[in-house]
Amino acid sequence: MKEDRSGYTIWFDRGTPGIGYIDQTCIPGTYRVTMAYTPHELAGAIQVLAIRGAPALGVAGAYGVALAALCADAESIDSFLDTIKKDADMLRRTRPTAVNLSYGIDRVFGRIRQEKDVHLAKEAALAEADAVAREDEQMCRGIGETGNALIPNRCTILTHCNAGALACSTWGTALGVIRSAVAAGKEVSVYACETRPLLQGARLTAWELKEEKIPVTVITDSMAAMLMRKSMIDLVIVGADRITRDVVVNKIGTYMHAVCAKYHGIPFYVAAPLSTFDLTSSEIDITIEERDRDEIARWGGHITVPPDVSVYNPAFDPTPVQMITGIITEFGLLRLPDDWDRVTEQVSMADRIIRD
Ligand code: MRU
Repeated sequence: MKEDRSGYTIWFDRGTPGIGYIDQTCIPGTYRVTMAYTPHELAGAIQVLAIRGAPALGVAGAYGVALAALCADAESIDSFLDTIKKDADMLRRTRPTAVNLSYGIDRVFGRIRQEKDVHLAKEAALAEADAVAREDEQMCRGIGETGNALIPNRCTILTHCNAGALACSTWGTALGVIRSAVAAGKEVSVYACETRPLLQGARLTAWELKEEKIPVTVITDSMAAMLMRKSMIDLVIVGADRITRDVVVNKIGTYMHAVCAKYHGIPFYVAAPLSTFDLTSSEIDITIEERDRDEIARWGGHITVPPDVSVYNPAFDPTPVQMITGIITEFGLLRLPDDWDRVTEQVSMADRIIRD
């Protein structure tokens, strides 16, 4: 993808201090790098989806808490922690579905709480947030390796939304698998579903793949079933915002593709890092974000739905794990619910490494 100052979707600028990010509301028309100088500015960027995608939200949460720590002007460690907790809670509320956001926030806040001195806590916060960002990249590369083994030498892949470099710190999950397969010399072409209503597929996935010179064709979401019926799709790969023992939650429309893929006997894969797994919830506990009416009811300055007609706009949907051929992770391919123990094992190993 296009190089910016750091080559990443989101990063921390220690000098300012502030959080730099690629503004995803402008792509594909304009490539713009923007800064958030306060946790509130960061929250605004997350709400309008200038920063979006579960792993990128994890990194944003981590850097957001680090920024809150650097901005906090407190004399005692207790008032310092109080201030940061308020900012952390405010950031957490911006998008309730992607568990990675809470993962990043909790990692850095948990690290800060181990310190007794404000200055040391600030240093520790930034170091921990950097670790979250670094690990995100490593996880994506690992997902790419696991996934590449599943990709035939010549194939056509359907994807939904954007689970690419823009949705992570870099490389991507679903698109990371495609990138790794192409880097291994495979001939891959992609159908990108436009992803109503905010068009992450048409705007972002198509832009990323074009930058990489990977053949991509955009279709509307409702065309996918017909392409499957006509044997134009070899496999489906999507990302995830939260994976529990019973469901994978991802961008609205994912479930529809899973149903169609199952009907047509097409492998349906989800690519996601460990930070997307939620060990403590199941489907009934998950809040599905509902977004503004205008995302559906307005288009290019015109109204597209009569003013007195209601609109329902859930941003994500759950797909039962039994409908998924495999979950591609940095620690291998999982089949749920059977492999859930491997997830819990990996989470406790990661916790131990972080604690030490
Ligand atoms: O609303 P968005 O654009 O944040 O939704 C993003 C998705 O649903 C992605 O598929 C998911 O976060 C995985 S990104 C690697």
